[in-house]
Amino acid sequence: MSHRILLLGAPGAGKGTQSKRLADEYGVEHVTTGDALRANKDMETEYGTPRSFMEAGDLVPDPVVNEIVEAALADADGFVLDGYPRNLEQAEFLSEITDLDAVVFLDVDDEVLVDRLTGRRVCDECGANYHVDFQPPAEAGVCDECGGELIQREDDTEETARERLQVFYDNTEPVIEHFRDEGDLVEVDGEATPDEVFARIGDVLAE
Ligand code: AP5
Repeated sequence: MSHRILLLGAPGAGKGTQSKRLADEYGVEHVTTGDALRANKDMETEYGTPRSFMEAGDLVPDPVVNEIVEAALADADGFVLDGYPRNLEQAEFLSEITDLDAVVFLDVDDEVLVDRLTGRRVCDECGANYHVDFQPPAEAGVCDECGGELIQREDDTEETARERLQVFYDNTEPVIEHFRDEGDLVEVDGEATPDEVFARIGDVLAE
């Protein structure tokens, strides 16, 4: 079974949802640039803070993100990587610092993505993920796991979600083509329940 797994997909494809489950299943680290950057939104860098890029739906400059990933992978004995690489330069950097066992692309239609992003709610305390229609909490606005408040991410407005999709098509689709050309990409239809998508990923990783 593979233990250095890269999960690729557009914003809202379910990378975070599935990466957490995979990391638990295989007992490896969940390395996610999105969460790492959200935890350090106001960190001063020579390019400015991550916040300004994230709230516009743009990519944070490569040197900032590459440093985060290099440090996280150096400490990890096996990982599920989510949210990186997002352009060809990051993909080249990644291939310099590690070998991957599996690259999985979660395929989801654009309009489904926008519905997932605008309906997402996250726990302010523990980061657990919900959706107002597809994965609602038992009590509206309250986290099932820890009782924390559920909030909407600042970049989950429809306007910013569509901007993020455009950034994905301009920057990250070439990364997917790169792995497809190399013959390393396995594609999974991500339009099903989270349990079904998880089962589909398990099947392709077992092959
Ligand atoms: P990041 O946090 O990585 O966001 P993203 O790629 O846009 O992905 P999301 O977290 O929005 O979606 P996801 O695919 O994880 O979906 P999820 O499982 O939550 O990045 C945010 C920003 O940080 C970027 O815009 C950029 O500025 C910066 N950044 C990050 N990495 C960077 C990098 N490498 N370089 C430069 N900048 C970087 O699911 C979404 C919703 O759908 C949830 O509500 C969930 O409940 C629901 N859902 C999930 N699965 C299903 C299902 N099967 N059926 C129904 N609903 C589902």
